[in-house]
Amino acid sequence: MKLLLIGSGGREHALAWALAKSPKLTKLYAAPGNAGIAEVAELCNLDTADHQAVIGFCREHAIDLVVVGPEAPLVAGLVDDLEAAGIKAFGPSRAAAQLEGSKAFTKGVCDEADIPTAGYGRFDTADAALAYVREKGAPIVVKADGLAAGKGVVVAMTLKDAEEAVTACFEGSFGAAGAEVVIEEFLEGEEASFFVLSDGTNALPLATAQDHKRAYDGDEGPNTGGMGAYSPAPVLTDALIAEVMRTIIEPTIATLAKRGTPFKGVLYAGLMIGTNGPKLIEYNTRFGDPECQVLMMRLKSDLLELLLASVEGRLDQTTADWRDEAALTVVMAAKGYPGSYDKGTEIRGLDTPATDDVAVFHAGTKRDGTRILANGGRVLNVTAVGTTVRQAQQRAYERIRDIDWPEGFCRTDIGWRAIARES
Ligand code: AMP
Ligand code: GLY
Repeated sequence: MKLLLIGSGGREHALAWALAKSPKLTKLYAAPGNAGIAEVAELCNLDTADHQAVIGFCREHAIDLVVVGPEAPLVAGLVDDLEAAGIKAFGPSRAAAQLEGSKAFTKGVCDEADIPTAGYGRFDTADAALAYVREKGAPIVVKADGLAAGKGVVVAMTLKDAEEAVTACFEGSFGAAGAEVVIEEFLEGEEASFFVLSDGTNALPLATAQDHKRAYDGDEGPNTGGMGAYSPAPVLTDALIAEVMRTIIEPTIATLAKRGTPFKGVLYAGLMIGTNGPKLIEYNTRFGDPECQVLMMRLKSDLLELLLASVEGRLDQTTADWRDEAALTVVMAAKGYPGSYDKGTEIRGLDTPATDDVAVFHAGTKRDGTRILANGGRVLNVTAVGTTVRQAQQRAYERIRDIDWPEGFCRTDIGWRAIARES
């Protein structure tokens, strides 16, 4: 099969690496890709926001399946347009991707299906939103409704912070994404992520993970897209996974099917595990980045078969097999990230080939002749497998010692919570 993979991050490098192992794959293209993806795929110069251009490329190169990595093209309806042109595509339709594209949409699904989640109000004027936060008091969570590149959420510990967040939203800090605001009850507990694959009707559990969103050690500093992750998440026991499937995932899939907008693709549930059982914080409609990197290290099944089964509605006849070991990934970022940082600095020490146990996935990199240059904020994902999270962590940091990139940094404590549970 000939595939086109859309995206350019560490998530897409991990997907490309896993897809390249499939005996079914004959050719992999990636748009736009990065220097790591180029080791297993042919990069193509394609404007992925131009759906007609993507369709034209697929026809010209006889592409059998398009795999969409990031959320923006999903919310923009790339899968709908490809399918309308008769081209198979993995990922949800525009309508189903609203589970990620609109927080108010997801809250509506939760109401309809009685899914456990934080209590909330939704508002399209600042006055009404301010009255609500004053009535409820802090701590409270203020969220821009739409996609805001992970920056649209303020967990306000004081009423003043909540009021400021509401005002900023309606003053246009997040553009159109902030025209409506969802205000939520503050949930306490431990966060974990759960990934399932759906074909619109069936939901196949994949795996669990936890990530570190803060930039610096000790989970301090500004929020980022994620500085590291590990899988499995020890907090999500088999009993809790069964509860999450029954109370959260299955009702969501059933509700979208009933509405005539079935969800196909990866459903990524952000969960809060508190004393009253698991609650849904949010949905994403794609693999997480960097969670995908640890999932792909643990996946034993053929990824291409799994994605095809989702597209073709065969997940009831499909299983996913996982290595029992833990996988852990450490993000190396350009100094200054998530604020401003330099691009174009050289990274050395990347020549050791990936194995089944240790792999360096590229995120923001590009090739310049024989040199690999940093080309983004999050640049590398150093990923390792171990019998324990501690061993996976040791192996990842061992690999990092061989990487020569003075302009980069990483956290030194990825996995600390899981390691504390192990000892
Ligand atoms: P979201 O983009 O909705 O996942 O929110 C980003 C982060 O904000 C989450 O990963 C949580 O750490 C935090 N968060 C969001 N909603 C809540 C909530 N209702 N209670 C506590 N923390 C929350
Ligand atoms: N790591 C968080 C995300 O992919 O949204």
